Amino acid sequence: MSQADRADERFRQLHGRPPVGVWSAPGRVNLIGEHTDYNNGLVLPFALPHRIAVAAAPRADGRIAAVTIGDDGSPQRSAPVPIAELAPGRVTGWAAYVCGVAWVLRDEGFATGADLVVVGDVPTGAGLSSSHALQCAVALALLGLAGAAPDLDRVARWVQRSENDFAGAPTGLLDQTASLRCVAGHALFLDVRSGAAEQIPFDSGVLVIDTRVRHALADSAYGDRRRGCEEAARLLGLPSLREIPDDQGDGAVGSLPAPLRPLVRHVLTENARVLATVSALRAGGDIGPFLSASHASLRDDYRVSCLELDVAVAAAESAGALGARMTGGGFGGSAIALVPVAAAEAVRAAVLAAFAERSLTTPRLFTATPSAGAGRDR
Ligand code: GLA
Repeated sequence: MSQADRADERFRQLHGRPPVGVWSAPGRVNLIGEHTDYNNGLVLPFALPHRIAVAAAPRADGRIAAVTIGDDGSPQRSAPVPIAELAPGRVTGWAAYVCGVAWVLRDEGFATGADLVVVGDVPTGAGLSSSHALQCAVALALLGLAGAAPDLDRVARWVQRSENDFAGAPTGLLDQTASLRCVAGHALFLDVRSGAAEQIPFDSGVLVIDTRVRHALADSAYGDRRRGCEEAARLLGLPSLREIPDDQGDGAVGSLPAPLRPLVRHVLTENARVLATVSALRAGGDIGPFLSASHASLRDDYRVSCLELDVAVAAAESAGALGARMTGGGFGGSAIALVPVAAAEAVRAAVLAAFAERSLTTPRLFTATPSAGAGRDR
């Protein structure tokens, strides 16, 4: 049963009437281009088959009320809040992701009271953008109820505002854009500065290794990295690190205070690796070395990896993966590995053995192929 079918069924059970519609949005992995989005850089995500679906119907009292279905099947209800009274800090926990979207859309002229029933299978806290899948599905549902169909780039920016200003996580545009704009069988090559997006055929599966180290992007380390990049751009007299001319990277890095140099080096080299990866995909070449180099840069220069991610990547590489890297914000969450079919079993076994040897929590492994982006299911 699809997540949309489940959402429809649960809505009927809980409300005794059918929903007006069901919308869903996927989680994502980022193939490469990490911590570049808030530096106006390049990213290359694809959508996971895992989705969050929202069944919705209008409410006449101008309130927003959501029910999410827990792992054990039991409903958890958010208190119905008048949309007119929504403000940052007013709602916390998972409901902040629902209400934050309603708050932004209200300001944009789409104030719709609604009953929402949320179901999904995107692993939470795993660096796979479950919170963005939720917000994108809610945004499409509320816009759908309002009869509006704005372009997806605007929706992505609204979802970013919800995440930044209501849920309190200072994240960039990668995850929302991936959830909204990815298409099956492709990775999305996005230039955040220009907004230009291109679908790059990519239909290999990747092995996703959820380390089960839970990360929280509202935590200070993500914001610290972001502020470091902004400070570096300010010292260089540029609006963002993206404006460093290609042939002046070394000079720019060398001119900065020592603590900022590795951050900027990562961003510059990561943008170059995204371009190299896209070229290799177009030419049918091997992208594995770029993924592995990205991981090394995130571990050594950007310092957002952790023991479990490093163990996962090293074990996958040693057992025959063509390349492997952490994906998402880091400090836990998931790694991905590009694995030839012949090495699939060996890589899985090596990763599990490496975690067991170090007495680390057993990771969750699954294969993901590039899947469809967000949309209306019914
Ligand atoms: C998280 C954020 C994104 C992006 C990545 C790192 O997923 O939500 O905006 O910054 O980390 O690339």
